[in-house]
Amino acid sequence: MTVQETDQDPAHQVEAASKAFEQEFERFARFTGDPNGLVGLTLDEAVAQERSLSDLRTRHLGKKSAFAAAKKLIGRVPSDQRAAFGQRVQSVEAGLVARFDAAESTLKQYIERQRTARESIDVTLPGRRPRRGHRHPITLLRERIEDIFVALGYAIEDGREIETDFYNFTALNIPENHPARGTQDTFYTTDGFALRSQTSTVQIHAMQRRGVPVRMIAPGRVFRRDTPDPTHNPMFFQVEGLCVDRGITMAHLKGTVAEFLRRMFGPETVTRFRPSYFPFTEPSAEFDFSCFKCKGSGCRICKNSGWIELGGSGMVHPNVLRIVGVDPQEYSGFAFGLGIDRMASLMYNLDDIRLLFENDVRFLEQFE
Ligand code: FA5
Repeated sequence: MTVQETDQDPAHQVEAASKAFEQEFERFARFTGDPNGLVGLTLDEAVAQERSLSDLRTRHLGKKSAFAAAKKLIGRVPSDQRAAFGQRVQSVEAGLVARFDAAESTLKQYIERQRTARESIDVTLPGRRPRRGHRHPITLLRERIEDIFVALGYAIEDGREIETDFYNFTALNIPENHPARGTQDTFYTTDGFALRSQTSTVQIHAMQRRGVPVRMIAPGRVFRRDTPDPTHNPMFFQVEGLCVDRGITMAHLKGTVAEFLRRMFGPETVTRFRPSYFPFTEPSAEFDFSCFKCKGSGCRICKNSGWIELGGSGMVHPNVLRIVGVDPQEYSGFAFGLGIDRMASLMYNLDDIRLLFENDVRFLEQFE
């Protein structure tokens, strides 16, 4: 028998196809049986194997397979051998199908188990702790200030950050062309609004809304056209204080500010007032307190002076009372304002006030 004859022999071709299958299927042999035997195979690897198994099935049992071609040769088989050939073909085919099915089912079970394991949650594992946020140092300080004033009987007033010229300047006795507008130059919108340059604007709102007598503090954000440097920001925080009633004098102002600073920095804290000028108070004074670090002997924080400057204050100007319809003959009051950022930078010994708004978490998370 020549090679050519052999190749055209249908029985031989079936055997050749079966042999080729055996050779190629060898690598899937371990998948027939217990899926536990596949331990070590990753999920991705198992999925890839499933795909190549399916390709292999197409190659060996598909319409264009050598096996299918061999089956078509049945007509060439002598009629007395045809039945035997038919049976042989069927049994080989059934064997191939069974082996493919078994390997496929093992792989499928294994993949299913791996997927379930991947998606299952081990409730006994310790949880991942979410990163905790911290309150901003300015917020911490604002809350301490608020607590002290609430304990002294003050209400806390909210204010607007965008103001009209009237509230930011005119009502505070700073008419147009007054030089005080220059020192508190702010940001204007094209339609006549301004970002408030000081919380003193809330004095006007509070008296209009609450009438008198009034006792309130108003913490909030203010804006100025200041070039940023270690002690200046174009946006910073102030706290305004206002107390208007019958018979209020400078002694009440001094007593209130001194008590606030004692509660803030300790009972030995000494306060001093220096004459100053603000258009909306008369007389006006700036106030300093004895350095909380060196207690007045002089150190780096107080620049060796023993004193720390904190804010401005004074008796509410009669023009301010008049503009909100309060009779200055009957009522008098005091007001004060201080910058929270500078206070924070002193208390936390910051070299640069700009650190407060750089939003560097490594800096911010130091404050509790
Ligand atoms: C005022 O703003 C007055 N409204 C205070 C006042 C209120 C006086 C009530 C009388 C009665 P002054 O411009 O000095 O005052 O600002 C107050 C505080 O804001 C300063 O002491 C300082 O702590 C802070 N401050 C001012 N400019 C800046 C800035 N660019 N960056 C950070 N803090 C600032």
